[in-house]
Amino acid sequence: MNMLKFLHKVSMKKDKKELLRDKIFLNLQKYFEIQQSESVFIPGKSTVQYAGAVYDHKELQAMTEVMLKGWFGLGEQGELLEKELAEYLGSKKAFLVNSGSSADLVAVSALMSYQFPEHLNPGDEVITPACTFPTVVSAIVHCGLVPVFIDVDLETLNPIPEDIEKAITKKTKLILLVHTLGNPNDMDPIMKIAKDHNLYVIEDNCDALGSTYKGKKTGTFGILSAESFYPAHHMTTAGEGGAVFLNDMRFLRIVQSLREWGRACWCGASGGDVNGVCGVRFNYKIDGIPYDHKYIWSNLGYNLKPIEIQAAMGRVQLTKVERFIEKRKYNFQKLQSFFKKYEKYFVLPKAMPASDPSWFAYPITIRDDAPFDRFTFTQYLEEAKIQTRPLFAGNITRQPILKHVSYIVKGSLVNSDRIFLRTFFIGVYPGLTDSHIEYMTSTVEKFLKKYV
Ligand SMILES: Cc1ncc(COP(=O)(O)O)c(C=O)c1O
Repeated sequence: MNMLKFLHKVSMKKDKKELLRDKIFLNLQKYFEIQQSESVFIPGKSTVQYAGAVYDHKELQAMTEVMLKGWFGLGEQGELLEKELAEYLGSKKAFLVNSGSSADLVAVSALMSYQFPEHLNPGDEVITPACTFPTVVSAIVHCGLVPVFIDVDLETLNPIPEDIEKAITKKTKLILLVHTLGNPNDMDPIMKIAKDHNLYVIEDNCDALGSTYKGKKTGTFGILSAESFYPAHHMTTAGEGGAVFLNDMRFLRIVQSLREWGRACWCGASGGDVNGVCGVRFNYKIDGIPYDHKYIWSNLGYNLKPIEIQAAMGRVQLTKVERFIEKRKYNFQKLQSFFKKYEKYFVLPKAMPASDPSWFAYPITIRDDAPFDRFTFTQYLEEAKIQTRPLFAGNITRQPILKHVSYIVKGSLVNSDRIFLRTFFIGVYPGLTDSHIEYMTSTVEKFLKKYV
C-alpha cells in the first residue's frame, strides 16, 4: 500500500472512532436522563439517604474517556486533579490516594520518616479527640505512636483548646485534629498552643472540604492534612479515594514515596515518560553498585494509589463542589431552624463564631432528661426510611479494638460518652431536596407529638 492510501485509511479509522465515541457519549447522556426521570421521591417509600454520590452524565463521560484511551494507572487526569485540588484548598501540593484512611496513614507516616529531619519517634504522644473516626487512631497506632484522648465539646463536637494544652507532656509531638462533621476546630488558639509547645498539627479534613475558619480553608492550617472522597463526602472519585495535602514542601518526596511502594524515584506513577523525568534514573548507586532509581527504596511504604478513572470523575466533581457545599449549608440551615423549636429535647450543633462549616451531616444529641432515648428515636426514623448514623466511633475508647491498644486518656470523657450514648446524624447532602427535608421534619414532628 502506498503512503497516501495508508494515511487515508488511518484518517477514515480515526473518523469512525470519533463518531463512535460521540455516539457513546450521547447514549450515556440519554441513559442518565432516563435513569434520572425514574428516580422520583415517594415519602415513606423512598429512602432518605444520609449521604450519596451526586453526579450526572458528565462524570460518566469523563470516566469513559479514560477507558477509551486505555491508560488506567494514575496519569494525566491524576496530575491535573492534584493541581486543581491544591489550588482549590490553597495548599502547596496534593497527592491523591485511594481513601481518607490512607491519607491519614500517609500523613502520620510522613512525620515518622527519617527523611524528615525533625521526625517523630515510636512512643511519642499524639493528642487527638476521643470522639473520632477509627482509622485516625489506626494511623497513630500503626506508626508506633501513643494516642492521648481528650474530650470534645457537646455542641461543636471538637476539643476545647484548653483541654489540648492540659494534655501536653514532654513526649507530646503532634496534635491530630478532626474537623468533625465539617465543623472547623478553633484554629487560632490551637495553632498558638502548637507553636508555643513546638508541636506539629495534622488535620483530618475528611468531613470538611470547603469549610473555613476566619476565611482560611481547613486543611491548610496543619503541616499536612487528609481528605476523603468516599461518596458520603463532599465530592467523590468513583466510590473511593482521598488526598494528602502538603502545607510544607519538605514532605514532597516523602509523601509520594510512601504512596508509591516507598520507592525513592519521584518520576511519578503517571503516564508519559516514566523512564526518568528526573533525568538521573541510572545515576544512582547502592553500596557503590549502579542501581536503577526506580527500584531503590527509601521508605517503608505502601501502594495507596487510586486509578485514572477515579481522577477523571474527581475533576468533574470538583467543578461542582461549591454548588454541592451551598446545598449542604442550605439543607443544614433548614434542619437547624426546625430543630431549634425542640431544643428542650436536643443539643444542637454549633459552629465557632469565626468559622463557616461545610457540613457533612446534621448531628443531633438527645438531652439526658429527654423522655425518649436514641434507640427509640433512630428506630422510628429508620422505619420511616430516614437513614441515621451514630457519630462514628462515639467514645473510641469504648470500641472493642481499644482493649488491645496502649493509649492514654487525659481528663474525663464525659461528653464523648454522651455522644456514644445519645448522638446520631441525618443527611444534608446535595441529593436531598426541599421535599426530602419537609418529609424529615414532618416525620420528626409526628414522633415528638407523643411527648409534647
Ligand atoms: C473524619 C473521617 N476521617 C477519615 C475517614 C476515612 O475515610 P475513607 O472512608 O475514605 O477511608 C472518614 C470516613 O468517613 C471520616 O469521616
